Amino acid sequence: MINEGLTAIFSYLSPLLKERIILSQHPDNIAPHGGQLINRFANSAQQQEFLSKADHLPRVQLDDRAFSDLVLIAIGGFSPLTGFMEQADYDRVVKDMHLANGLPWSIPITLSVTEEMAAPLQEGSLVRLDDVNGRFVGVLELTQKYPYDKTQEALNVYRTDEEKHPGVKVVYAQGAINLAGDVWLLQRDPHPLFPVYQIDPIASRSMFREKGWKTIVGFQTRNPIHRAHEYIQKCALETVDGLFLHPLVGATKEDDIPADVRMRCYEILLEHYYPGDRVILAINPAAMRYAGPREAIFHALVRKNYGCTHFIVGRDHAGVGDYYGTYDAQHIFSEFAPGELGITPMMFEHAFYCKRTETMATTKTSPSTPEERVHLSGTKVREMLRRGELPPPEFSRPEVAAELARVMKGAD
Ligand code: ADX
Repeated sequence: MINEGLTAIFSYLSPLLKERIILSQHPDNIAPHGGQLINRFANSAQQQEFLSKADHLPRVQLDDRAFSDLVLIAIGGFSPLTGFMEQADYDRVVKDMHLANGLPWSIPITLSVTEEMAAPLQEGSLVRLDDVNGRFVGVLELTQKYPYDKTQEALNVYRTDEEKHPGVKVVYAQGAINLAGDVWLLQRDPHPLFPVYQIDPIASRSMFREKGWKTIVGFQTRNPIHRAHEYIQKCALETVDGLFLHPLVGATKEDDIPADVRMRCYEILLEHYYPGDRVILAINPAAMRYAGPREAIFHALVRKNYGCTHFIVGRDHAGVGDYYGTYDAQHIFSEFAPGELGITPMMFEHAFYCKRTETMATTKTSPSTPEERVHLSGTKVREMLRRGELPPPEFSRPEVAAELARVMKGAD
């Protein structure tokens, strides 16, 4: 009786208050977003049921991004999401970066199909989800299908409606109807390239616990590691217990350096230049959106689900071209009430090698003139490598530069 009463009161509490209460009893240092780590794996009875129905269910083929979204929902990386967003969540996320229940969320997680594909699908029925190779990977319990405004999504989420923005391009190319509802992932396959680095939120949380880390900083990256990355990671590591290096290995734009090359660079560096007992390298299966500020919030919330208490946001985080100001991805954090996100951003200025002080620095710590600073953009580095030139040791450790040169030469 008392229990029922408490449950009823609990259901009236705001999502944030619930998260606080759950956190006070949570074994980890940080509760997942919304208070509970979501698990959307089909259990064995569901697996059997879905497999027996597989041939008769309507099918939707997921592209790489939708597949990685399905995986992230299933493993709890997108907690509290249990499926692709319904319209109430979608509208509020696009408009003001919150879910319908009031929790912060900055990027729409949607499954879009064409009107022709959506027409025969019945709300309330199951839809079979196949990957790009036609393999049966999951099930959607379709609760809603709704049209959406692509330009509005582009302008609000990406801050531009230009089609040449790689994230906007994806939105414009996808179908006009969003399919929404809870999902199940049939099974979690080991990653074909990085099985040992596939550490899902439940595992990363237990690793942090085993190591006794109370504070953990997450690091997002889609580029080969350079010395500015290393510098800000290590500055952060000076004040927290552990570093969770979490390179994104889902879909990226064509000219980004492939994930296997980036991972090798990390392995090379970790072997010689990082304290092994204070760093965990793991892959983030997500696709890159290039949404700059909004993606920084999203990246932080995902790392919170992996158990990180802190998250690094440097210069032009998740940016592309000149679409965002250098520190827009930091400023956006102040649009949320203190404590609302439940993870602490660690902000860093643009870091460079300072010739005058002969060390890595930022303008906060170095008296250098612009001519005394060594920094190269990702595009510049790729151009150099294509010409067969190595980036200078002030920018990239020689072992990493050699590995990049070796691969880029083979690529041409
Ligand atoms: S991102 O798209 O994943 O953000 P990248 O891998 O280059 O791109 O950046 C990873 C993280 O390092 C981001 O937080 C980014 O802001 C930060 N960063 C990259 N280069 C620098 C730099 N020179 N100085 C400070 N922060 C940087």
